[in-house]
Amino acid sequence: MDNLQSVIDYYEQYGQGHVFEYWDTLDVSSRQQLLGQAQNIDLAEIKKLVDIHVLSESKEAIDYAQLSPAPYIPHYQKGGDSMLWAQARELGNDALASGKVAAFTVAGGQGTRLGYNGPKGTYPVSPVTKASLFEIFAAKLKHAEKAYGSPFYWFIMTSLVNHQQTEDFFKKHQYFGLKDENVRLFTQGLMPAVDFEGKMIMESKSKVAMSPDGHGGSLRALNRSGSIDLMKDQGIEILSYWQVDNPLVKFIDPYFVGFHVQKGSEMSSKMIPKAYPKEKVGHFCMYQDNMVVVEYSDLPDEYQEQTDAEGELSFKAGSVAIHMFDVDFIKRMGGEDSNESLPFHKAVKKVPQLTAAGTTEKPSEPNGVKFEMFVFDALPHAKNPVVIEANREDDFSPVKNAEGVDSPESCERDQLKMFARWLLAAGESIAVDETGLPAIKIEIDPSFAYDEQSFVEAWTDLDEKPEIVDGLVIR
Ligand code: UD1
Repeated sequence: MDNLQSVIDYYEQYGQGHVFEYWDTLDVSSRQQLLGQAQNIDLAEIKKLVDIHVLSESKEAIDYAQLSPAPYIPHYQKGGDSMLWAQARELGNDALASGKVAAFTVAGGQGTRLGYNGPKGTYPVSPVTKASLFEIFAAKLKHAEKAYGSPFYWFIMTSLVNHQQTEDFFKKHQYFGLKDENVRLFTQGLMPAVDFEGKMIMESKSKVAMSPDGHGGSLRALNRSGSIDLMKDQGIEILSYWQVDNPLVKFIDPYFVGFHVQKGSEMSSKMIPKAYPKEKVGHFCMYQDNMVVVEYSDLPDEYQEQTDAEGELSFKAGSVAIHMFDVDFIKRMGGEDSNESLPFHKAVKKVPQLTAAGTTEKPSEPNGVKFEMFVFDALPHAKNPVVIEANREDDFSPVKNAEGVDSPESCERDQLKMFARWLLAAGESIAVDETGLPAIKIEIDPSFAYDEQSFVEAWTDLDEKPEIVDGLVIR
């Protein structure tokens, strides 16, 4: 009871006493739920965020005139120095073979835009077998295990919204042949949503409306979940980070690991040149001597469209949300006693809310503010950040929208084109149209080949090559 009173006092002191308005009417388990939730919210942090983002209009403005495009290492197939890339590859292969690298997927988002009811990683994306995103990543890890001689740890961040379903999915599929102890699922943190006066929104009489704290929350969650300690114990020094929505991603990439190591970088990133000025990606920029990513929604049109003397987009380096992190850097940025941390961004949303009638309803208009951290905000804190150019067709085709750009359909086309390119590179003939799209549906399991080079090698080694027909799955 003493504990309860001190929590209530704490909430009253911060002007959030309404959270306990229905306490007297709640049964024991609802009381436990509410108290448990309330004890885990840092009201001082919420007050700070409310003061900055809700009660004042003063957004810390970027002086866009001071932005310049960030430097990057051009790809060896696009004018970059092949020697440098070859050296990086060697270094990267060494690091990968010595067990210093682990894989990390952020999969805590809600996938609302795709309109899919389930964890996005369970979404079927491959052209023939309809393998899920998680299955594709698992197959890539199996290939890496074969190539480098030992298994890789795979960390996956979920959120309370989808954790159980994600875990059930892995169990149902026996971890897709990976060792279950190497697949480490953990949940990210939650943040309360507030109304436009800064009061925490109640979803029900015994529940504060909470939502995931953004992929930037991964740095805290990796620490809190004990994942960083495990990595330290296992001699893992580098974490390869990607978003769950992108089946093309090459996350075991010796070139990328190599540049990260060679430059002594704490956080490295892949970029692709934007396909068109207003492509919805973040932009790598320099700002006051620091590397930053400026989101598409923040960068004014004139900068998104600005061109240089050659007529190329000035701010062309698009972020595909593929990074390498030093484990020590994550410890520094996300540890409990860290004095460096990521800022929160605000998102105005429709938040399901308790009504006067005691029911929960999603309003028709936005009624509140959610707070999220973005992982790329760690960049200005990182020593020697490196950006390397990636080939879009080998690394990036996300599934974000139900149709059109970045949809299941566009992603399937990109996979088919990639498989056809690999077959052509291996000397096979397959009819493709002017965009490189084959007329038939084929699939190459990532555990058979990870990229063009490994495909050509594995295909050449096949004693009996299958006929290339519609529905062929090479595994
Ligand atoms: C994101 C990036 C953008 C980048 C683009 C590339 C942001 C704000 N922008 O845009 O710079 O160019 O991807 O595809 O991120 N997630 C969590 N927990 C959360 C929120 C998100 O794990 O609380 C995960 C999602 O599961 C997903 C990823 O983060 O894997 C991206 O989130 P999303 O909100 O879809 O970002 P985009 O707007 O697509």
